[in-house]
Amino acid sequence: MTHHVSAGHGPHGHQDSHAHAHDTEQPRDDLAQILDLDAELFAAYLDSVHRKIAELSEGGVRHIVDLGAGSGTGTFGLLRQFPDARVTAVDSSADMLEQLTRTAAARNLAARVRPVLADAGESLPGVSDADLVWASASLHHLDDPAAAMDVIFAALRPGGLLAVAELDGQPYFLPEDAVPDRPGLEARCRTALTALHAEQVPHLGSDWGPVLAAAGFGIEYEQTEQLRLDADSALPESAGQYAYLVLRRIRGAVDGLVDAADLAALDTLLDGGARDVRHRDDLVVRTKRQLWIARRPAVTGS
Ligand SMILES: C[S@@+](CC[C@H](N)C(=O)[O-])C[C@H]1O[C@@H](n2cnc3c(N)ncnc32)[C@H](O)[C@@H]1O
Repeated sequence: MTHHVSAGHGPHGHQDSHAHAHDTEQPRDDLAQILDLDAELFAAYLDSVHRKIAELSEGGVRHIVDLGAGSGTGTFGLLRQFPDARVTAVDSSADMLEQLTRTAAARNLAARVRPVLADAGESLPGVSDADLVWASASLHHLDDPAAAMDVIFAALRPGGLLAVAELDGQPYFLPEDAVPDRPGLEARCRTALTALHAEQVPHLGSDWGPVLAAAGFGIEYEQTEQLRLDADSALPESAGQYAYLVLRRIRGAVDGLVDAADLAALDTLLDGGARDVRHRDDLVVRTKRQLWIARRPAVTGS
């Protein structure tokens, strides 16, 4: 939680008060919009993940913890999947929790959601005997995820599940020649971002299996998915806005890390002109998602 990231990593970047100058021009809820659009575009994937959790849960999910809940993409999906459950939504950002709380009220779900402002790496206040902890794109933000595992383990009832959903960085959107005089623009930006993330969010892209196992969890399911949305798969109109918001954050992050010609080319994808990602018909959204579902053993062996 102490990383000072100038702009986020794709849909799952930090919302950070130390944002780069370019980022400060953006409305505060950009990241929340990105998270919501991500969940909308990949709704089928998210639903399939929640169904898999339901399959493994053997029907016993009443209390869920959404760790690093953000705008609530997981909270609301899980409330749909588990109609008898309530969610403790934990986040260290008051802004995010405010948005989540507003959405819960708008959907008449306030009674089923308890927002908690906390550093989830240190504690999950008031939580015990949870049936499920959902941690989506949040574990990699923690300073010491291995230590956080002990907190999560203690918050779960014996036999309870931990589901970790992660990603390896920002999605790709563009063909190689999206800006003809700067071929490979997106790949170069990605290389610059990867170097930045290695420094600022070193746990991004980790293999969480060994971390879960070392904390005493039994891993029951692991999956890696390459997701792809393109014109052939009826790309929703919101994909353009999603690409725009993500690339705008990336633009803030790589300022000073890629050369001026690449930065200028990136600007032409965001300036409302002919190349703007909001109007293109050649967008292809590609992203890698990983999932681990693990169980706190029912018998602790004491
Ligand atoms: C990339 S967002 C993911 C949000 C949501 N889980 C989703 O998948 O849409 C990461 C969230 O983790 C929160 N976060 C980061 N560090 C945290 C910490 N130490 N404790 C609690 N929340 C944290 C951020 O504020 C942000 O809302």
